[in-house]
Amino acid sequence: MCGIFGYANYNVGRSRGQIINTLVDGLTKLEYRGYDSAGIGIDGENDWSEDSPVRAIQLYKQVGKVSNLKEEIISHHPDVSETFYSHVGIAHTRWATHGGVTQVNCHPQSSDDTNQFVVVHNGIITNYRELKMFLKAEGESFKSDTDTEIIAKLFNYYYKKDPDLEFYQLTKDVLYQLQGSYGLMVKSVHYPNEIIATRKGSPLLIGVKTEQKLKVDFVDVEFINDSEQSTEANGSYLPSKEYTNSSLRKSESRAILPDHNMPIEFFVSSDASSVIEHTKKVLFLEDDDIAHINHGELHIHRARQSEGMSTTRPVQTLELQLAEIMRGGYDHFMMKEISEQPDSTFNTMRGRLDFKNKNIILGGIKQYLTSIRRSRRFQMIACGTSYHSCLAVRSLFEELTGVPVSVDLASDFLDRSPPIFRDDTCIFVSQSGETADSMQVLKYCRAAGCLNVGVVNSVGSSISRETDCGVHINAGPEISVASTKAYSSQFIALVMLALQISNNVIDNKQRHEEIINGLEEIPRLISQVLEKKEEIKEISLKYLHGKDSMLVVGRGYQYASSLEGALKIKEISYIHAEGVQAGELKHGVLALVDSNMPVVAFATQDSFSPKVNSAIQQITARDGRPIVVMTEGDNLIDRSKTSACIEVPKTVDCLQGLVNIIPLQLMSYYLSIAAGHNPDRPRNLAKSVTVE
Ligand code: F6R
Repeated sequence: MCGIFGYANYNVGRSRGQIINTLVDGLTKLEYRGYDSAGIGIDGENDWSEDSPVRAIQLYKQVGKVSNLKEEIISHHPDVSETFYSHVGIAHTRWATHGGVTQVNCHPQSSDDTNQFVVVHNGIITNYRELKMFLKAEGESFKSDTDTEIIAKLFNYYYKKDPDLEFYQLTKDVLYQLQGSYGLMVKSVHYPNEIIATRKGSPLLIGVKTEQKLKVDFVDVEFINDSEQSTEANGSYLPSKEYTNSSLRKSESRAILPDHNMPIEFFVSSDASSVIEHTKKVLFLEDDDIAHINHGELHIHRARQSEGMSTTRPVQTLELQLAEIMRGGYDHFMMKEISEQPDSTFNTMRGRLDFKNKNIILGGIKQYLTSIRRSRRFQMIACGTSYHSCLAVRSLFEELTGVPVSVDLASDFLDRSPPIFRDDTCIFVSQSGETADSMQVLKYCRAAGCLNVGVVNSVGSSISRETDCGVHINAGPEISVASTKAYSSQFIALVMLALQISNNVIDNKQRHEEIINGLEEIPRLISQVLEKKEEIKEISLKYLHGKDSMLVVGRGYQYASSLEGALKIKEISYIHAEGVQAGELKHGVLALVDSNMPVVAFATQDSFSPKVNSAIQQITARDGRPIVVMTEGDNLIDRSKTSACIEVPKTVDCLQGLVNIIPLQLMSYYLSIAAGHNPDRPRNLAKSVTVE
């Protein structure tokens, strides 16, 4: 979704040109999150007012890609040589939620014509209508259709009430009025060289770059006192004109820097990928943290009291390598990520599966294993591809654990608000670990008191931090919007979870061994299918390119493969594709089948094969000529009635989906390229969906 980036330099000279480049480069790294427009806010060339030596804030905004923003900046011929020894800049890539894609709706949004407060925002303010009405009644007029403009105006509103407030105190006043989710950064002419970064339900981290040793390797958090808490509890969400108790809130939090004269730079971002090239030292903000970067110091204050909240934010070292997130030799991240699956699936198992002794150890859930085993139900929650990985392992989970498993789309779960019991274990599966719908369900489940387990790729993400325990899938960064290697790694992580939960049941021993042996072979089998790239490309171009619609059919373990295969085709080739449970053909879908309707059918051998073969006969009897994904050497399929057969190696029934999905991932890629699309950046979609 939207991306936020901020850069603050202190005691180190940076020209305006360098500052612009740092901000724009930061945005380029975030572009994959959402990219319909972009903007930056920096110090301009003129003073803000006659009696103020402070520079006015200059905003540059443009719709389209970050490269368009670059051109927009160049067209204004800013003085790129002027050097600043202290400066803060903020930047944003937007993926529209409120208001159309226009320059005026780009961020930073401003409080007024003189840019007294400028704000970049990721998230949605749900009470923006009420706040807008209030501000209009106060005489404010609005330029944009965004909810973010309201935040900028609220800053100005509270500032005018009490100009003596410190920046973070003013921020508290504003945050008390906001409902919804946000990752925010604020810059103001009233607080030169200061920056506010705060979050609620939207990720934000701060990279610190300095030659000197940090005074502390954590930052203390300042907790507000009770009188403030009660104000919040009593306060209405509309700003009250009388509300001015901020003076109660002066107190010191521990700063990060001992020496005010030493060079230091801060990089604030919604995503580690834009910070890593500058520094590996980062700290992650928690919900309701207000980070105040102020003349080389970083203080963290709390907007609200939260029970059990840690009082420090550790400065961590990111392990992510920049090279890992580069494209390598591939034309697109998607092909790189599809091709990486022999390695990424191996990495998911590395150090956890002992193939020799047929053992499994998932360190991340060890402490909670007894509670998990006592569960009366497993509830899996996810969205999109991650949801499909849950469907792929559901029956194995039930088979091994003997406990019922429900699988829900997070959005549907939220609509229903079903009962969750204390003896349920809820499993949250997410590549990004930031998906808003899944996060909302996690909050709901936490309140219900059940045990929450995360199966997440992004280390340090919200879901990995808010769950009680979990399994990182260790697939490495997934940059392409369409999820591929995360799917196979989620699948394996969930299989391992089922194995770990059930490895105290003696009756499972043989099946466990079979699955562990099968898992050991998976990277090699995936490599074998990847060797068929050219053949799969040819089949895709011959039978599927240029079609408007197609069916992807499977059942049993392959139902999830058909849904996931269809999703890949839809999202990057823009061909309508429907994943169909083979048993459902005769209940309606068969009406679509004729000699013109392309069909891909999963017919690899397992206990469901007779039923799948009968479904294929139903299709061929209506002149359909399916492309069949089948087991190598299978002679039960009548090849004369197919368009093409893609032979894949056989593995254990419950793992076959890991092999079968590869041809569909490749098909979607080749169809996307053939149609002239960029598979890494499908229209209307973003990598990390941090709004509901
Ligand atoms: C499809 C895709 C999406 C995500 C979904 C959930 O290729 O990538 O459907 O799977 O948005 O995202 P995560 O897994 O980050 O929660």
